[in-house]
Amino acid sequence: MNEPTSVDAHQYKTVLGHFCTGVTVVTAFDGDEPVGFTCQAFSALSLRPPQVLLCPQKTSTTWPRIRRSGRLAINMLGVGQREIGRRFARTGVDRFAGVGWRPSPAGAPLIDGTLAWLECHVVEEIDAGDHTIAVASVDELGVGQAEHPLLFFRGEFVGHEMKEAVSA
Ligand SMILES: Cc1cc2nc3c(=O)[nH]c(=O)nc-3n(C[C@H](O)[C@H](O)[C@H](O)COP(=O)(O)O)c2cc1C
Repeated sequence: MNEPTSVDAHQYKTVLGHFCTGVTVVTAFDGDEPVGFTCQAFSALSLRPPQVLLCPQKTSTTWPRIRRSGRLAINMLGVGQREIGRRFARTGVDRFAGVGWRPSPAGAPLIDGTLAWLECHVVEEIDAGDHTIAVASVDELGVGQAEHPLLFFRGEFVGHEMKEAVSA
């Protein structure tokens, strides 16, 4: 149920857009068709057991197909992959056209040239407003060839070489 709110949707997007994140593409096989969508709402969650979370919109047509497959891959995009980030958010196009990929150990599509990847299976889905929080258990993982992350900030893809270490 939606609670009454005084928060304006435009202002919400503007303010939350200041929280800079990396960009992932979540992929799976639905039958013999590779499927995937660009997903910014991704986070590490638990070390023991190893779990991550991602938040698909309830209107997503791709998420039900990924969930049905049981196995999914999370592809962390590198700075040179903004076109892939855009393409996997478009509707009515073949998102995998021209995109190189190979199967993960359990067969989910791993996009070539990413920063890093995870292969997971969904263990829980939590209802959350207009999104679902999906908790996924990590089965396999690795780093890729890209060295610098693609970022999403204030509604745009950004990213450049990250040379300076900032002490925590
Ligand atoms: C940078 C960026 C981040 C996105 N993050 C999410 C996200 O976290 N969750 C989500 O469901 N959709 C996200 N989207 C939108 C989806 O990629 C896609 O447009 C949406 O799922 C509709 O396609 P579908 O019906 O095939 O799922 C994002 C799009 C972009 C460009």
